[in-house]
Amino acid sequence: MGFLGFSWCSAIAVLGLLLNAVVFCNGGTTSAFVRPVEKTVDMPLESDVFLAPHGYNAPQQVHITQGDHVGKAVIVSWVTMEEAGSSTVLYWSENSKNKNKAKGTVGRYKFYSYTSGHIHHCTIKNLEFDTKYYYEVGIGHTARTFWFTTPPEVGPDVPYTFGLIGDLGQSYDSNKTLTHYESNPTKGKTVLFVGDLSYADTYPNHDNERWDTWGRFVERSTAYQPWIWTAGNHEIDFAPDLGETKPFKPFTHRYHVPYKASNSVAPFWYSIKRASAYIIVLSSYSAYGKYTPQYQWLLAELLKVNRSETPWLIVLLHAPWYNSYNYHYMEGETMRVMFEPWFVQHKVDVVFAGHVHAYERSERVSNIAYNVVNGICSPVKDQSAPVYITIGDGGNLEGLATNMTEPQPKYSAFREASFGHAIFDIKNRTHAYYSWHRNQDGNAVEADSLWFFNRIWHQVDDSTSTH
Ligand SMILES: *[C@@H]1O[C@H](CO)[C@@H](O)[C@H](O)[C@H]1NC(C)=O
Ligand SMILES: *[C@@H]1O[C@H](CO)[C@@H](O)[C@H](O)[C@H]1NC(C)=O
Ligand SMILES: *[C@@H]1O[C@H](CO)[C@@H](O)[C@H](O)[C@H]1NC(C)=O
Ligand SMILES: *[C@@H]1O[C@H](CO)[C@@H](O)[C@H](O)[C@H]1NC(C)=O
Ligand SMILES: [Fe+2]
Repeated sequence: MGFLGFSWCSAIAVLGLLLNAVVFCNGGTTSAFVRPVEKTVDMPLESDVFLAPHGYNAPQQVHITQGDHVGKAVIVSWVTMEEAGSSTVLYWSENSKNKNKAKGTVGRYKFYSYTSGHIHHCTIKNLEFDTKYYYEVGIGHTARTFWFTTPPEVGPDVPYTFGLIGDLGQSYDSNKTLTHYESNPTKGKTVLFVGDLSYADTYPNHDNERWDTWGRFVERSTAYQPWIWTAGNHEIDFAPDLGETKPFKPFTHRYHVPYKASNSVAPFWYSIKRASAYIIVLSSYSAYGKYTPQYQWLLAELLKVNRSETPWLIVLLHAPWYNSYNYHYMEGETMRVMFEPWFVQHKVDVVFAGHVHAYERSERVSNIAYNVVNGICSPVKDQSAPVYITIGDGGNLEGLATNMTEPQPKYSAFREASFGHAIFDIKNRTHAYYSWHRNQDGNAVEADSLWFFNRIWHQVDDSTSTH
C-alpha cells in the first residue's frame, strides 16, 4: 500500500480501513504523490539503446510472442538490414545439444518514402512446456543467440507472473519503465502489453525509422520473454495525406500474433491460454458493433473459456472503459456498452487498458442496467464485475495525464499520474497478487497493490476500500 490520500475523505477512509470501520465518502484515493513536472523527451537517434548490433546483416529488433493457443509454440521475429539472408531459426533445449531447425518467412513493406528492412517471422512449434530453449537467428551471416522459457502446461493451479506495460514509446522515461520492470524482484515472465508501442506516428511522415529504433530499444526484453501485443491508436498509422490508407500497416508487418489459433480472422483480437490464465485481447480500433467479426468472435470465445482449466480470465484492450482523467474521456464508452454485460455474465477477473498516460484502478463495478428509458445510469458495486486497471503510464513522449475529474468518482479506487509498470502474480486458482510500481521508487515499493480473489473460485469482496 503506502499511498496517502490528500482529502479528508480519503484520510478518514484509510483510518477507517485500519479501524475496520465503515465510512461513507465520494470516491477512492487520489494519490498525494506529486511527480516533479519534467518534459518527457524522446531519446535521440544516437542513444545507446538504439545501436544496431555489429556484423554484416546482423539480426536486430528481435522479439518473441506466444505462437499457438496453449504455449507450446513461439513466434520469433527479427529484421535484417543489408539483405534478406536466412529466415531459419536454430533452437535447442537447455539439456540437449541437438539443434532443431524451423523455417520462417521474410518480407518488407513501404510506407510513404520509407522502405523497411527485411522482416522475418518464424514459428517454432511442438516445444516442451516449462523448458528453457536457446535460439539462434542470422544463420549464414552474423548469428546471434538468445533464450526463452516456455510456460508450464495449462492448468488451474499453475502459478505464473505477468508484467504489465502500456503506451511505452521511446523517451528517457520509457527506458526507466523498462529498466524498472526488468529489475523488479518479482520477475515477470511474460509482458501483457496494452497497446501504443513506438509512437513513430508522432514524427513527420510517421517516420518509420522510429519503429526500428523502438524494436532495438525493447529487444533486451522482447528477445527473452514473450510480449503479448494489443493494438493501440498509435498502431493505426492511417495517413491518407501520405497516400497511406491501409490501417495498421507497419504494426502488422512487424508484430505477428497467433490469432488463427483462436479462430480469429484478424490479428487485432485473439486469445491465448498461458499457465492458469485465459487472456483475451480486443481491439478498440476495429469494428465491434453487433454482427461484426470481432463481436461474433468474442460472443463465441467467452463460451469456450473453461474456468476449471484456466481460472483467471484477463482481458487486454487499449481505450479504458472506466477512466476518471480528463483525457480520452469516454472514448471507451461505446465498446463498454457493447461488451460489459458479457464481462459481468462471464465474471472476467480483470481488464487492463492503456491509452490514458497515468495509472488508475477501479472498484468492482458494472453499469449495465441502463436501457435508455429507465434512467439507471450510474456504476454500481458488482462482485461479478472485473477490476478495471489503466496502465498507460509507460512513459512516451506525450507526457503524463495529470488532469483528473473532480470529485473522484465512486468507482475509482486509486489513481495517480506517474509513470510505471505493474505485476500480476498468480499464486493458484483463488489468489493473485497485483502491484503497481512507479518509476521514482525502489523495487521494494508498491505504490498500489491488491490481492485479487478469483471470481469463480473465491468470489469474496477483494476491494481495498470500505463501502
Ligand atoms: C537506458 O537504460 C539502460 C539500463 O538502465 C542504460 O544502460 C542506458 O544507458 C539508458 N539509455 C538512455 C539513453 O537513457
Ligand atoms: C474443463 O476443464 C476441466 C479440467 O481440465 C476438464 O476436466 C473438463 O472436462 C473441461 N470441461 C469442458 C466442458 O471441456
Ligand atoms: C482540466 O480539464 C478540464 C476539462 O477538460 C478543463 O476544463 C480544465 O481547464 C483542465 N485544467 C487544467 C489545469 O488544464
Ligand atoms: C492460494 O494462494 C494463497 C496466497 O498465497 C494462499 O493463502 C492459499 O492458501 C492458496 N490456496 C491453496 C489451496 O493452496
Ligand atoms: Fe493510445
